[in-house]
Amino acid sequence: ASAAIGVTGLGVMGRNLARNFARNGYTVAVHNRSAGRTHALVEEFGHEGAFVPAESPAEFVAALERPRRLMIMVQAGAATDAVIGEFAPLLDAGDMIIDAGNAHYADTRRREAALRERGLHFVGTGVSGGEEGALHGPSIMVGGSAESYAVLGPMFEKVSAQVDGEPCAAYIGSDGAGHFVKMVHNGIEYADMQLIAEAYDLLRQVAGYTPGEIADVFRRWNEGRLGSYLVEITAEVLAHVDAETGAPFVDVVVDAAGQKGTGRWTVQTALDLASPVTAIAQATFARAASGQSELRAAYAGLPGGTRPKLSRTEAERFASQVEHALYASKVIAYDQGWKMIQDAAAEYGWKIDLGTVARIWRGGCIIRASFLDRIRAAYAADRDLVSLLGEMEFAMEITDAQVPWRETVSSAARRGVPVPAFSAALAHYDTLRAGRLPAALLQGQRDYFGAHTYGRTDRPGAFHTHWAAPGRPETTA
Ligand code: 6PG
Repeated sequence: ASAAIGVTGLGVMGRNLARNFARNGYTVAVHNRSAGRTHALVEEFGHEGAFVPAESPAEFVAALERPRRLMIMVQAGAATDAVIGEFAPLLDAGDMIIDAGNAHYADTRRREAALRERGLHFVGTGVSGGEEGALHGPSIMVGGSAESYAVLGPMFEKVSAQVDGEPCAAYIGSDGAGHFVKMVHNGIEYADMQLIAEAYDLLRQVAGYTPGEIADVFRRWNEGRLGSYLVEITAEVLAHVDAETGAPFVDVVVDAAGQKGTGRWTVQTALDLASPVTAIAQATFARAASGQSELRAAYAGLPGGTRPKLSRTEAERFASQVEHALYASKVIAYDQGWKMIQDAAAEYGWKIDLGTVARIWRGGCIIRASFLDRIRAAYAADRDLVSLLGEMEFAMEITDAQVPWRETVSSAARRGVPVPAFSAALAHYDTLRAGRLPAALLQGQRDYFGAHTYGRTDRPGAFHTHWAAPGRPETTA
């Protein structure tokens, strides 16, 4: 037994993670259901480090140093359960099974509890950064027992992305916490992408810019506070010209967005936690709506707003308003994600350090951005920060963004350009600052038709009004 870690499931992600460990000096046992992939990996990349190819589960497990560290990198769901079922009986107490796939955190909680009973550590680990990240340094969000992190942490921290000499890997919390945080990362990814897409749409439909000109705008924005991987690749995608037709690439792509499900999980879970991640929800629904092609075809061309042509100067002014709107909405979307993590931590008893989450998303992952350094600093200054709006600099930026943010959303409405994520973010901000909400009226309606009772602002208790006989005294329930 000589391998520090084993990887089973050698699809693109598994293969690249295995290579990453090997390139960092670890001996890696590799296994795949069909041995062809195992041998192909060793043949092609064997020169990169020390691999131990294993043909059978028994051979694979025998190759691992104790306590055994076995990483599974297969499809989330039934395939993961099948692989766990196959390997768990071959392991001993204290061994660790690491699930580095995009598992649902509830599945991870269930698997962790079951394996804990057998003395095994189940380490649900979120890995972000796609194929490139897996190979060159992903962001790694680790769940499970603190004991297993003591062994695995140094390895993960070595193979993860590094920013300013700090690893983008960390222990998040027990059982499903790592996969939960990865799920929220993807929800935020959906919101960020949708906000960027709405900004593009406005620059095109309202400012009248071409995709090439918009690519330049995004390149400029990428130099400032919006600087991020997603803004950077947006500029590249917009500048790309389709080789076959010579048309902008973005104009030859079918406008129906796909999704593999992690954004949907975030929204489903948020509903259960009563956590209003409205920008993420709108981003997820926007993908769904884009896919309703028959409905869209049936109603394309319905009357909408007017789109007067803007002068060059007006267009530039408008673009700078959109920058404010994009930034402010992004702050709200991220803030919603962090609040959802806090809500889940309270629900599941996880002790999640919110600044650490920002720290490990600064590099390696899809939403990596300089902006995350500021979120990290905000939580470092105040561990119990409830919202980024409570931090001075963010609060000032949001104050500065007021006029352009509202101008952007109202221009979109006047001109008939759909901006569901921008609108949701602004509405969320206005909800937080409202002081009093019409929820008081809802309580009255609920009490009227269902005697659901309401609280009063002037004294504690639950009250019910005899609506059928107004004038009769109210009762305390
Ligand atoms: C990551 C990505 C990764 C994947 C998304 C894509 O963090 O590396 O988020 O997990 O690319 O799941 O999601 P959709 O197919 O749902 O857009």
